[in-house]
Amino acid sequence: MTKHYLNQFPSFRGRRMRQSENLRRLVRETRLHGDQLVMPYFVREGRAVREPIVSMPAQYRFSPDALIGELEELEASGVHTVLLFGLPSQKDAQGSEAWKADGIVQKTVRHIKKRFSKLTVITDVCLCAYTTHGHCGLLNKRGEVANDESARLIGDIAVSHAEAGADIVAPSDMMDGRVHFVRKALDCHGFEHIPIMSYAAKYASSFYGPFREAADSAPQEIHLEGGGIVPSDRKSYQMDPPNAEEALRELAMDIQEGADIVMVKPALAYLDVICKAVQTFSVPVAAYQVSGEYAMVKAAAEQGFLKEKEAVLELLTACTRAGAKILITYYAKQIGFWLQEEQPQAYQQVTAS
Ligand code: PBG
Repeated sequence: MTKHYLNQFPSFRGRRMRQSENLRRLVRETRLHGDQLVMPYFVREGRAVREPIVSMPAQYRFSPDALIGELEELEASGVHTVLLFGLPSQKDAQGSEAWKADGIVQKTVRHIKKRFSKLTVITDVCLCAYTTHGHCGLLNKRGEVANDESARLIGDIAVSHAEAGADIVAPSDMMDGRVHFVRKALDCHGFEHIPIMSYAAKYASSFYGPFREAADSAPQEIHLEGGGIVPSDRKSYQMDPPNAEEALRELAMDIQEGADIVMVKPALAYLDVICKAVQTFSVPVAAYQVSGEYAMVKAAAEQGFLKEKEAVLELLTACTRAGAKILITYYAKQIGFWLQEEQPQAYQQVTAS
């Protein structure tokens, strides 16, 4: 169906429908809602811990008990979905804390579910915070990130999260075929009903910097005895920023393997990819406004260079306009409260003017 844009001045005046807040609301094409927001949290071992993250002002690492208090606040904001990232107390070359039944994420999910059974808990499924080398998979003898072995482990981690009570698992490692392995592993263990949100088009972005401080998950450069070097970046598995066609292939692959939600990440620098994804596929597309995007706005707002609320709402609205149905943002709780303040003007005020 083609639309025809024949509006011409003076019969058409674009300003007519911009005259008042109520008119602007009437013709608004997209709006934000608490239902679509996902709030990420970093969880670590300990008791009563609420540790500030330096590179992400107003964000914290919580111990499982302390997260409960935080979730009460989140509930009041109208946001009812969280995404959990774990910081293990120990790391090793295989990242074996990641699939332990009493690992930090598994423990936290159980703790949350006792108190908030209806909160939707998504867990990030990856190895980078659990491996000493900080890569999202296992390293082979040549120092490469081994694909299939890593993807199988990702499947084991997903199962351990589902066993703990996770509602959705979100593999973020960017190994080929991981959705296939995760789906197969979940199904084998009786978790056919657990959806997969795949980080399908995840770019090797500089905007993950603050996250890597928060999750202590920066990839390390390693010099192997044989002379090889493992690089301190994720370019061999995450996507190359100049590519959009490739993103569609990645998305198609993950959807065929069984992804229920596909994600584009980061958001702001990849709005074109979000838009293409939405136009091409019929599964829900999620946009992840990542740590660096959060930190940019936060830092500028703290300096008084821009108005935080307006800037944040504009950025997330852009993702919605591009077609994203789900918005993952460290501002989720704050946006929830902002949206509650934004009640429409009273009818009387409109007629009296
Ligand atoms: C783990 C993972 C990362 C993010 C989400 N999951 C970091 C990375 O790929 O280095 C980044 C999120 C953010 O920056 O907010 N693989």
